[in-house]
Amino acid sequence: MRTVFVNGEYVSENEAKVSVFDRAFLFGDGIYEVASVLGGKLIDFPAHVARLHRSANELGMRVDVSDDEILAIHRELISRNGVEEGVVYMQMTRGAIDRDFVFDTDKLKPTMVLFTQSRPLIETAVSKNGMKIVSIPDLRWGRCDIKTVQLLYPSLGKMEAKSRGADDAWMVRDGVVTEGTSNNAFIVTKSGAIVTRPLSNEILPGITRAALMAYSAESGTPVEERAFTIEEAHDAAEAFITSASVFVGPVVSIDGVELSGGKPGPVTLGLRKTYIEESLKRAL
Ligand code: PDD
Repeated sequence: MRTVFVNGEYVSENEAKVSVFDRAFLFGDGIYEVASVLGGKLIDFPAHVARLHRSANELGMRVDVSDDEILAIHRELISRNGVEEGVVYMQMTRGAIDRDFVFDTDKLKPTMVLFTQSRPLIETAVSKNGMKIVSIPDLRWGRCDIKTVQLLYPSLGKMEAKSRGADDAWMVRDGVVTEGTSNNAFIVTKSGAIVTRPLSNEILPGITRAALMAYSAESGTPVEERAFTIEEAHDAAEAFITSASVFVGPVVSIDGVELSGGKPGPVTLGLRKTYIEESLKRAL
């Protein structure tokens, strides 16, 4: 049985409670972060906390714990649950109050929940075999840059991908790829540059995306921040995704079109290795 954190207390997962009036439950009015753990240490942690504050600011939501406390709670859960490899999920909501679309921030006390999930992240089926992607229209709302718990469309998108024999979906808006259902999308051109679309309201500013782009630039890999179409992706040398829980995940087919011979490509595997090595050096 795991220990989870709910509103200031460490409790067993089967005793944890939040209100039926919580605005995240009724309105999707909550934000979250997922940080990975390798060797019992947190990866890219300061950037995840910075993005939590950004999400809160954009929604006018209070964060009433300090960054030091947030780190201490993460570490306590990692230690209590013996997490060597896995993730820590942190959710903050605007709080609980009788159901009403209109709310008074002064009357609300934010809800804070954290739990861990232990699972292999380095040696996985995706890292070995890569993932098959299908494309779907991007029907999400206009503020995909905020990491909210409104994840119904991404969840249904992943279910559609599974039903079509694939592992995940890339979403397309205005003829170009926005991002994966829970990750950022990249292609590798035939000349070896990595391409991902620029930040905007249409995608989440991925922490793994930013770190990987910085490591790539340092190692001399050309990085192009521009939009690309599914057709360009079909014709790319390689493709991959980035996220906190997958790191750099090779893409081996898109809508049934094989990339890099249906196997994880060498540039992608090199970037995955670099990301893991560099982020371990900075792990907390
Ligand atoms: N998802 N884009 C979307 C829509 C995401 O949900 C995520 C993360 C990312 C990648 O961001 P980062 O590198 O900071 O993890 C991009 C997390 C892992 C999740 O929902 O489980």
